[in-house]
Amino acid sequence: MKTGLLPLIHPLKMTEFLSHFRNNEPFVVHHDSNEHLELRSFSLPNLLSSWTDSVQVHLPDLRDEASAVDVPAAEAKKMFEEGMGILFNDINRFYPLLQDWVDTLKSDLGISAQTYGRSLIYVTPDGKGTAPHFDQNINFVLQVSGTKTWTMGKNSSVMNPMVRHTMGQPVDPEMMSYLIEPMAEQMPAKIMRFELKPGSLLFVPRGMWHETQAEGEALSLNFTFTAPTWADLFLAALRSRLVLSPEWRESAVVSEEEKFASLLESLKEELPHWNASDILEATET
Ligand SMILES: [Fe+2]
Repeated sequence: MKTGLLPLIHPLKMTEFLSHFRNNEPFVVHHDSNEHLELRSFSLPNLLSSWTDSVQVHLPDLRDEASAVDVPAAEAKKMFEEGMGILFNDINRFYPLLQDWVDTLKSDLGISAQTYGRSLIYVTPDGKGTAPHFDQNINFVLQVSGTKTWTMGKNSSVMNPMVRHTMGQPVDPEMMSYLIEPMAEQMPAKIMRFELKPGSLLFVPRGMWHETQAEGEALSLNFTFTAPTWADLFLAALRSRLVLSPEWRESAVVSEEEKFASLLESLKEELPHWNASDILEATET
């Protein structure tokens, strides 16, 4: 089976995908229900009987990952029957085929080799779903079974968020520093609705508001990528450089400000000689 971006997003072409990707615009493609059968072979009974790790259960108070517990599979089954959604995380650890998909998608997206890519499965009981939130990651959702409706809206509060946020919950202190406007407390007036059926593939851009609702028991397979930002790559390279110096490794005695000032002066002389390709060579190999 061919893995990678094109087999997942067809009939969309790469140029069309890149336009959605760069502009943070979602899209859905509805594949035939006999497509991607290898990826759609998962079922809740099979997963529960073979899963040896803990399962994340989303508690009913928030309907969100922000309020969840990790429990053994048998307990997760009971909680699911009581109406709670469950998540099998990092499932690519146990399925080489999924790891292959994660690796080829990461490469096709052109994101950093340092990206945290994973695959996960959500199983959602009838009528349940997630509360409005946005994620810091790039997400592809393949509907395996059942129907799930996604409601999505543009995020005018923040651009390129570096953390996840659930509507109505406290805002991450660092994210507060780069909000464009106060964090939204309700979904935007203009929304998009996507109904996923078995075989549907949804692209969920980073930072876009979304909430979901299942009709009947719904199981979806996700490929999710948390990619380093330019800031992350630069900071990683800077740290690698600075720790080579015994002076930069000194414990900071903050009363000796002049020492710090002299280190910064020498860094200012060095930085003009840095270039992007050297940094990327260091971070990507
Ligand atoms: Fe999400």
